Amino acid sequence: MLRISVTDRCNLRCGYCMPASGVSFQPKEDLLTPEDLARISGFAYRLGVRHFKITGGEPTVRGDLIEIIQRIRAFGSADLSMTSNGLQMPRLAGPLKEAGIDRVTLSVDSLQPDRYRDITGGGRFDLFERGLDATAEVFGTVKLNVVVMRGVNDDEVADFAGLARDRDWTVRFIEFMPLGSSVLADGDPDQFLVTADEVTAAIESVHGPLTPVDAAVDPGVGPARLLAMPGGRGRIGLIHAMSRPFCETCNRLRLTSSGILRSCLFDGGEVDLLPILRDESHDSELASDKAFFEAFTRCTAMKPDVHASRGGRAMSSIGG
Ligand code: 5AD
Ligand code: SF4
Repeated sequence: MLRISVTDRCNLRCGYCMPASGVSFQPKEDLLTPEDLARISGFAYRLGVRHFKITGGEPTVRGDLIEIIQRIRAFGSADLSMTSNGLQMPRLAGPLKEAGIDRVTLSVDSLQPDRYRDITGGGRFDLFERGLDATAEVFGTVKLNVVVMRGVNDDEVADFAGLARDRDWTVRFIEFMPLGSSVLADGDPDQFLVTADEVTAAIESVHGPLTPVDAAVDPGVGPARLLAMPGGRGRIGLIHAMSRPFCETCNRLRLTSSGILRSCLFDGGEVDLLPILRDESHDSELASDKAFFEAFTRCTAMKPDVHASRGGRAMSSIGG
């Protein structure tokens, strides 16, 4: 699976994502163009990659997002999904579906308007709700990503799980990861970690015992462990990246919006694809495919056995 970050910019400022020192975005001219993204994805498709995820920053801040998706979609039968904070979805859910997005995951860390505003650095929860409704209507279902943080939103775990009771939605709880330098990662990041076991206990105390679900029946599950609530229509997902790393089953590579292929969310191994994209001696697809193959192979070999406890780059530049 290839996660493609199309921008490091965002219309929100979540404390765990954006650097504490203030944000300095890469200059726009360093962004990969839709054509660059089509070349890289096309190569990945020929290599056998069948899952692509568009991420950011916030992908919807790119004006040419629809064109990017259409170009990646053109390769054929790959699964194509996207993450978003949802704010632009009332306008974009329809066009995204039409352009070929199969599924959308929305990030939301509080259902309480005041708290949502604090966590996101000013975001309006009513706008998120409108985006959520639009996404669920257009795509039929939706996945929610919730980063659980002690003392910040851990009292809302059962409320979030409740969203998957009566609806065919998946609510995925993500353990807080100390990535890059951010408002939350800079102090003692362990203080924010709420483990998947604690999340399970909080859900079970309100909704009853959770039972495992065969992940093979749901598309795009990735590293989440899937569970069902008694009598619930939707799914609960647990992403225990810190308490129980799943690195040995990870098949992800990540592409940053400036063309760097990353082996892992946490560890340093990176390969810059820009020289390949800008090398005009690669006059044929075959010539650049050879160079891409070498780069993808080198990057995959850098994947760690188990990730380090801290990551060097902020999520806004990697895209999750
Ligand atoms: N720890 C855990 N999850 C994070 N995300 C962003 N930063 C972090 C972090 N430090 C989540 C976002 C989004 C997904 C792409 O990654 O909330 O849901
Ligand atoms: Fe934006 Fe997502 Fe980062 Fe929040 S976590 S600032 S919504 S990219």
